[in-house]
Amino acid sequence: MSRSTLSALLAVAAVSKFALAQPDPADPTPLVDKHYAYPSGIPYQVDYNTAAIRGPQTGYNICNSTTENQDSECQTSFVNHIDDFCLWAPPQPNSTIGDSEADEVAWCTKPGHGTRLIPAGALQGAQLLKTSAYIQIAGFIDQTLVDMNAQDYGGELDPHGADLRGNPLGGLMYSNAFPSNGGNNNTYQQVIDWTNFIGGNAFCITICDPASSSDDQGAYCQNIYDRMGCNYNMPNNAQNGTFEVCDADLKTPVGIYVTNGVTMTYSQPASGVVDPPYTPVVPASSNCVTYQSAQLYTANPTPSGATSASGSSATGGAGGSSPSSGSSGAAGAAPTSSGAEALGISSVAGVVGVLFAMAFLS
Ligand SMILES: *[C@@H]1O[C@H](CO)[C@@H](O)[C@H](O)[C@H]1NC(C)=O
Ligand SMILES: *[C@@H]1O[C@H](CO)[C@@H](O)[C@H](O)[C@H]1NC(C)=O
Ligand SMILES: *[C@@H]1O[C@H](CO)[C@@H](O)[C@H](O)[C@H]1NC(C)=O
Ligand SMILES: *[C@@H]1O[C@H](CO)[C@@H](O)[C@H](O)[C@H]1NC(C)=O
Repeated sequence: MSRSTLSALLAVAAVSKFALAQPDPADPTPLVDKHYAYPSGIPYQVDYNTAAIRGPQTGYNICNSTTENQDSECQTSFVNHIDDFCLWAPPQPNSTIGDSEADEVAWCTKPGHGTRLIPAGALQGAQLLKTSAYIQIAGFIDQTLVDMNAQDYGGELDPHGADLRGNPLGGLMYSNAFPSNGGNNNTYQQVIDWTNFIGGNAFCITICDPASSSDDQGAYCQNIYDRMGCNYNMPNNAQNGTFEVCDADLKTPVGIYVTNGVTMTYSQPASGVVDPPYTPVVPASSNCVTYQSAQLYTANPTPSGATSASGSSATGGAGGSSPSSGSSGAAGAAPTSSGAEALGISSVAGVVGVLFAMAFLS
């Protein structure tokens, strides 16, 4: 199907969501419209207004050797390569994404970004897919080692949110990995749109090439299917225990599927069971190169304090991260949201999580 057909279909799905987004009057500029050259243009905090409804951002955006420690509140993140990327995860131990989404901090595989480091052994497998419009990494993680509750099915983080301030608030993303960066690993482009699921001991993250069209960035970095996990949002073949990098075709954007020759759009319901009428297709990949984790992750601290996950029944793989949240329709506010906006409701999370475990295995 053509890109323009895709865009039109996605527009239908997106309207219902963005119509409900309400910029915060105290900070009306959407996070996706805040652009800063790295590193010199970055302010201490991009979202600092104390009058904002959700409060100012909890961390900061200027990150350096002083802020590089396991208590870092750095909210400037990177996705460069399989040995050099960050995930958004909580700042306090044993948190759920639903409870901490506004406050997530960058946890990185490698020193040099002024952030926390993902502890040794936490990453258990990862597949990086390089495409013409985005880079996707999906994989397995012992989530307790990045301050998550062992049972949390997690949620989705992105630079939108009901108030357009992002989750985490003020979170910035940079990369050196797109061709449009000119092949220079020492300079960084700001990534305008990105999405990251984490939970169920799995994760997936996509960064869209800032040089690609805004339609493509909207299509491949969707943030409205936040209850549908990695399998649907970022179809992948990540294997636990394997680390690989592949070239890949573009995915069919989440929500779009073809049945009897007709292209359809599935919209995630605002509440209740999410039951998409299709099975996601993993795009073709080629030129895969596998690595040993010891080659990739060489400077990660020994885990301390955290207990290892046990008995998490979660799910198949990077498909597991279905969000903890449904939306509460409480207070009559329709859930606008990107991000795991509503608080986690464990029974709902359980149902959704099991659903996706089955989808993954089937
Ligand atoms: C390092 O980062 C901290 C926290 O953002 C900031 O206060 C400090 O000025 C930075 N130091 C340098 C030398 O840029
Ligand atoms: C994490 O929090 C849950 C409930 O909030 C509690 O039952 C559990 O014991 C805590 N786990 C750790 C390792 O502190
Ligand atoms: C940039 O980094 C990538 C990934 O680590 C590496 O494959 C590539 O050779 C690097 N490019 C240069 C010019 O050093
Ligand atoms: C991945 O493999 C590790 C090591 O065998 C295991 O402890 C972990 O439970 C697996 N993760 C998932 C989500 O299956």
